[in-house]
Amino acid sequence: MSIIRILPEDVSNRIAAGEVVERPASVVKELVENALDAGTTRLTIQVDRGGRSLVRVIDNGCGMDAEDALMCLEAHATSKIRERTDIGDIRTLGFRGEALPSIASVTRFQLRTRPHDADEGTEVNATGGVIQNVGPTGCAPGTTVQVRDLFFNLPARKKFLRSIATEESHIQEIVQLLAFAHPEVSFDLSFDDRTVLSVQGGSDLRTRAAMLLGRETVAAMVPVDHTDDHIQVTGFAARPGLTRSTRRDQRTFVNGRPVTAGGIHFAIRDAYHSMVMKGRYPPVLLFITLPPDRVDINVHPAKREVRFREHRQVGEVVGAGIRQALRGMPQPGIVPSPEAAQPQMMPPAAPVILPSAAPDMAGAAQTGSTSAGPRRPPAPQAPAGGPPGRKAHARPPI
Ligand SMILES: Nc1ncnc2c1ncn2[C@@H]1O[C@H](COP(=O)(O)OP(=O)(O)OP(=O)(O)O)[C@@H](O)[C@H]1O
Ligand SMILES: [Mg+2]
Repeated sequence: MSIIRILPEDVSNRIAAGEVVERPASVVKELVENALDAGTTRLTIQVDRGGRSLVRVIDNGCGMDAEDALMCLEAHATSKIRERTDIGDIRTLGFRGEALPSIASVTRFQLRTRPHDADEGTEVNATGGVIQNVGPTGCAPGTTVQVRDLFFNLPARKKFLRSIATEESHIQEIVQLLAFAHPEVSFDLSFDDRTVLSVQGGSDLRTRAAMLLGRETVAAMVPVDHTDDHIQVTGFAARPGLTRSTRRDQRTFVNGRPVTAGGIHFAIRDAYHSMVMKGRYPPVLLFITLPPDRVDINVHPAKREVRFREHRQVGEVVGAGIRQALRGMPQPGIVPSPEAAQPQMMPPAAPVILPSAAPDMAGAAQTGSTSAGPRRPPAPQAPAGGPPGRKAHARPPI
């Protein structure tokens, strides 16, 4: 007698949630990425009790009609890819169609969404992945996802959550990374109604870099901008005197995602080769941009890692970019101050309120996204280069 069974969807969603939803910061990451894919220009993220009791993400992106508002909670339901060949050419942050059903399966979930051309929106409420009610609602154009009581139905997972301060610091970290990668978007993050991060769309990249590394550290870094054979590396690299005892401040982004990739860290180490002592790590913030078909993003359940098709070549371009930046750096007089050479980690909940950009620094003008307005996450048959407003591989200006 056969003993093998296909799992019911609620069970398989919960299993997927085990990989996608590790902690509150993973919920924030997935919801923010969805909003970015939806072309939002303003994001408000509200968190209570380190995300254990509430995560609310409000966007002004394309919104969903009533049918899609229900459809998005189905497993493997996505507007972002359609067929096998699309997997090799992903231009959005999401593509698996599993984040929302996974999140909904372990929370009390509410979605309120309205396309910009619709007169009314749709509200969907679900508990533990089971839809409780659906109906029309009055709401602003865009989407608000509200998630309460994370892991209320998985006490074993709940036990692994850390203190509120720890969970908050993970959330702040991921929001800062995504805000850094999307300078055209305004971000507001609050913990228990206390604003901890507020940054206007279009603020220049050094200002956003300061959110991650502190102003003094960023002041002691040189800009990197190098392209070779469709592989581009931009960002900032520390002058040799500025190092850390861990790799934590070597932040790398590939096509707009904060990720690690085999080979990049070796390339960074080699580029600094004789300038930095063994066991010391110069901070870097590097954006690597390359055609989507030259990088595999489908290698990690939470998409924290990517694999390059030609990793040696990418490493060479990264190394060349850093070496070139260090060669061109102004010499004496700009040696980092002793304070700047110390780790500059921002206290987890330190408020970061950043001004809007000077007019000539408007990143949005270069990425062309604020003017593009909200849109649906692109369908796979989008023309080469993706539709305007697509941000997954937009290069922030330096
Ligand atoms: N904030 C949003 N605004 C507009 N549409 C959204 C939003 N969030 C989700 N959607 C729609 O719901 C679909 C499902 O979202 P979900 O996050 O589950 O999957 P995905 O983003 O396609 O892939 P992944 O699982 O890799 O994140 C998306 O493809 C998108 O069409
Ligand atoms: Mg998603």
